[in-house]
Amino acid sequence: LARGGGEPDLVDRHVVVSAGGTREYLDPVRFLGNRSSGRQGYALARAAAARGGRVTLLAANVALPDPAGVGIVRVGSAAQLYEAAVAAAADADAVVMAAAVADFRPADYTDTKIKKSSDGSSPVIELERTADILAHLAAHRPHPGQVVVGFAAETGDEHGSVLDHGRAKLASKGCDLLVVNEVGADRGFESEQNEAVVLGADGSCVAVETGPKSALAHVVWDLVVARL
Ligand code: CTP
Ligand code: CA
Repeated sequence: LARGGGEPDLVDRHVVVSAGGTREYLDPVRFLGNRSSGRQGYALARAAAARGGRVTLLAANVALPDPAGVGIVRVGSAAQLYEAAVAAAADADAVVMAAAVADFRPADYTDTKIKKSSDGSSPVIELERTADILAHLAAHRPHPGQVVVGFAAETGDEHGSVLDHGRAKLASKGCDLLVVNEVGADRGFESEQNEAVVLGADGSCVAVETGPKSALAHVVWDLVVARL
């Protein structure tokens, strides 16, 4: 299945890729963030450009060199990514949400730095839910042929295996493909390598053995192109 992306099969296609991790600020200097480096999203953008696609890369707090031939939109928070993703998806043939999006944001933002209180007490930070961008995109496609892809980093637990969680997430998000990574202490994040299973809403399941993120990227585009 993975051809290594030698063909210009995304010519005349617009694809949108989100990458990195959102930051939800508490005050001007502090935020709730996550460990996503943006490498997988950048590899997806680079691979799509190599296949001839017009690529919009929504980069959330990524410290990597800009991929050549890709339009980059920088965002910070989940709310900013939501706005940018909805705008970019309007004329897209495919959207791949590789960014790690905060599930919660601080309910309040103070525009001055939070100080320690003199009585030694600790503040309680109230959180509120962010919007689910992937589920929104999948439910509000501008045209029925748009392919929507999510990523999920999962761990197996007492409620089910990594794949059980992946299947359930694919169904709840309503997307066409879900790239499921098994994560642990030293797997997935900040790594050059990636190993994954790509689940399809059609019941398909494609295992991608450990390899560079570019190889996984090309498998994802192979599967997307087959659905365009
Ligand atoms: N995602 C999103 N918007 C959110 C949260 C997640 O678009 N507010 C997207 C991610 O970009 C990813 C997919 O949803 O493509 C799965 O993210 P994940 O965190 O695994 O899913 P959640 O629904 O947030 O589930 P969990 O409670 O396991 O974190
Ligand atoms: Ca989440």
